[in-house]
Amino acid sequence: SQKWILMATARAPTNIAVIKYWGKRDENLILPINDSISITLDPDHLSATTTVAVSPSFEKDRMWLNGKEIPLSGGRYQNCLRELRSRAGDFEDERRGIQIKKEGWNKLHFHIASYNNFPTAAGLASSAAGFACLVFSLAKLMNVKEELGQLSAIARQGSGSACRSLYGGFVKWTMGNEMSGRDSIAVQLANETHWEDLIIIVAVVSSRQKETSSTSGMRESVETSSLIQHRAKVVVPSRILQMEEAIRNQNFSSFARLTCADSNQFHAVCLDTSPPIFYMNDTSHRIINLVERWNRHEETPQVAYTFDAGPNAVLIAPNRKVASSLLQRLLFYFPPGPDNELHSYVLGDKTILQE
Ligand code: PMV
Repeated sequence: SQKWILMATARAPTNIAVIKYWGKRDENLILPINDSISITLDPDHLSATTTVAVSPSFEKDRMWLNGKEIPLSGGRYQNCLRELRSRAGDFEDERRGIQIKKEGWNKLHFHIASYNNFPTAAGLASSAAGFACLVFSLAKLMNVKEELGQLSAIARQGSGSACRSLYGGFVKWTMGNEMSGRDSIAVQLANETHWEDLIIIVAVVSSRQKETSSTSGMRESVETSSLIQHRAKVVVPSRILQMEEAIRNQNFSSFARLTCADSNQFHAVCLDTSPPIFYMNDTSHRIINLVERWNRHEETPQVAYTFDAGPNAVLIAPNRKVASSLLQRLLFYFPPGPDNELHSYVLGDKTILQE
């Protein structure tokens, strides 16, 4: 009979880049112009949980995000699916009389239900967790026997930053050299038990959707900014080496200096783009000021800040004591109230992808 359904579920957290990815050399394959390094967050706070189902009774691929159906027409989903299908394995369940041959996956359709454990409208990156989770759960369902590195190269084709969410802990996305993108993969630098004391605080500055998507922002920067070339060729390669060393030695001063400098250079590239792109707002700038003044006062950095393609601040403290002092300062400068733009804090640790 044709009345069967197979399902697989996975959960993947989002990641925060401390050396940013900005700019593609190939838009279709999503190949970057520089390496990047990130920290994968704890899935209890910012993660996606995805269930994928396959059944001969499904007539087309469909997807629901937080219970609402969304179109799957996007080329990025199709690219991921094509890659997974070409690597699918045989599946057999004798008891239930189900047999799917490798080629059989080409004729089957999927239903995908994904949930974020944070408000979608919070303006926090969700595509990284979303595509990592989608690729991981589909690979499980389709019996794809690939190393995580190769799965990361597939997730990369959904959203660049998603490739880094396949691993927990500290992760590097190596840009690679090959035209095919086979070597543009994520590698784990250290697992989630390394440097366990670090605390990450996300200060939600605005829950509005960003005006310039990362895709069009990157395209405009690559086309019009001269700073981006200097950044990709000269600055990032040496920062990557220094950051790897700071992480290995748990050298917070060096880690914080590099993280802040790299965030600021990424936003400088945005400003160097024509027309300029403004992802940060006045509140973001006030948070930078607060941290910079504190760090200067203490002589060695207490806290690191980094901002992605939006105004929300990601703050990293070396331990709980400094994190609680940071929260006190944030609450002092941005007291909760109706006029306050800064309305929530998300606390998290680093952790691993959970099946
Ligand atoms: O992968 P995308 O298209 O969401 O781009 C992410 C770009 C940044 O978040 C700004 C930097 C990064 O490395 O994550």
